Amino acid sequence: MTALLIICFCLILGSLGNPQFPEQEKDPKFWNTWAQRTLKNALTLQELNKNKAKNLILFLGDGMGIPTVTAARILKGQLNGQSGEETQLEMDKFPFVSLSKTYNTNAQVPDSAGTATAYLCGVKANEGTLGVSAAAVRSQCNTTQGNEVTSILKWAKDAGKSVGIVTTTRVNHATPSAAYAHCVDRDWYSDNEMPVEALQAGCKDIARQLFENIPNIDKNHYVWNKTQLLSLNPNNVDYLLGLFEPGDMIYDLERDTESDPSLTEMVDVAIKILKKNPSGFYLLVEGGRIDHGHHEGKAKQALHEAVEMDRAIGRAGLLTSDHETLTIVTADHSHVFSFGGYTPRGNTIFGLAPMLSDVDQKPFTSILYGNGPGYKVINGARENVSAVDYKGNNYQAQAAVPLNAETHGGEDVAVFAKGPLAHLLHGVHEQNYIPHVMAYAACIGEYREHCMSPSGSAGLRPAFSIVAVILSAARLLC
Ligand SMILES: *[C@@H]1O[C@H](CO)[C@@H](O)[C@H](O)[C@H]1NC(C)=O
Ligand SMILES: *[C@@H]1O[C@H](CO)[C@@H](O)[C@H](O)[C@H]1NC(C)=O
Ligand SMILES: *[C@@H]1O[C@H](CO)[C@@H](O)[C@H](O)[C@H]1NC(C)=O
Ligand SMILES: [Zn+2]
Repeated sequence: MTALLIICFCLILGSLGNPQFPEQEKDPKFWNTWAQRTLKNALTLQELNKNKAKNLILFLGDGMGIPTVTAARILKGQLNGQSGEETQLEMDKFPFVSLSKTYNTNAQVPDSAGTATAYLCGVKANEGTLGVSAAAVRSQCNTTQGNEVTSILKWAKDAGKSVGIVTTTRVNHATPSAAYAHCVDRDWYSDNEMPVEALQAGCKDIARQLFENIPNIDKNHYVWNKTQLLSLNPNNVDYLLGLFEPGDMIYDLERDTESDPSLTEMVDVAIKILKKNPSGFYLLVEGGRIDHGHHEGKAKQALHEAVEMDRAIGRAGLLTSDHETLTIVTADHSHVFSFGGYTPRGNTIFGLAPMLSDVDQKPFTSILYGNGPGYKVINGARENVSAVDYKGNNYQAQAAVPLNAETHGGEDVAVFAKGPLAHLLHGVHEQNYIPHVMAYAACIGEYREHCMSPSGSAGLRPAFSIVAVILSAARLLC
């Protein structure tokens, strides 16, 4: 048995041939010098940043599990003409990384509503519910009242900070809505989508809560296209609402770059407006369509969305200082997305594994899904992908089990952190720990008192709330 295994392994290695890689990597000095440079940096982290965080930024890659992060890194490098594996994402440069356990109170594999309640409101909740504790039951209107929990955006606003939401999904989608709504069903986008009994019992749809729960929304400067957004003078705008598409934003790969802003452009404007507040700000940024790409089995769309979010992380880093801004990058949950197959160094991330299946003698792509719409059997056999455009934008990678929508995954996701008290994100943590760290670092919410300065002025400023909400219209107008 052992001998057989060894032989198989050698055959696999033999089939790799001689992948190309930079000549310098053959010299041990190259790796030793690189590691020593990294070590020197790591040693400087002994001086922990214990400043009070003035600003808080959370980048949430919806569905951005660890395999997605690695694949996006390779894609980013390959888009820059490199082999990709050695590339550093912006999030890779963050000094502290931990793992977040994503399960919902009633679900091993979670959804985006229950998880949003965890990383925004600080408590785990049932899947499908927003801004309510686990005592609330999905779709049961009468379990809402008394079970509402508030989000860190409210804590920040109550402490005099400006708050903003930027997302590539519709503005009443699961992630952004946990910031301002309390709703037992994430699908209650508008009154049109609610059961009559729930409406009669006094439950409110999410769009209505957007307008009722976000203060001064009527004062918002409204923009609906990129030209308007980019021609704003941030010094003259305190409240901003930008809705650029009738539903979700278009995938970045297919975006109309004349009319719609990129996620990076939205983040740029949002930070320039929010940072005018001397008390600081909280900004939620969602790369919301990484998740949609995966659900559709379209890995190329998902990975380009992740690369664009990484670009936005880089932009935010240029506009803020780690001295006073705690920035966290994480995901709500993973997906059943994988890449493997002993691909050689520099293999295009959308390419084939360098071998044929030893069962059906057909090639296979490195990227595969555990389930989803890419399941394909032709004449009773697995599709031969060499005849199809598997590098196309909308190619649906093969899946083991047919499903109309590929599912979330249940494993932990990464949390990258930099700035004041980033080191509190260090091991394996429950997902609802994240807003507690952020609130503690900024002395807001339940943690207002712990760092009351002698001047004691933090949190006493008049509310100066700015909303940089981006997206959606039709859903709101129902
Ligand atoms: C709440 O509503 C559900 C139906 O949605 C009903 O079965 C249940 O009895 C109600 N509970 C209370 C306490 O009224
Ligand atoms: C953007 O909106 C403005 C104001 O409504 C309009 O005049 C302009 O034509 C729009 N531009 C694009 C590219 O849609
Ligand atoms: C798969 O398709 C390629 C190209 O069309 C062909 O050369 C190969 O023989 C096919 N393999 C099988 C097992 O059908
Ligand atoms: Zn999803």
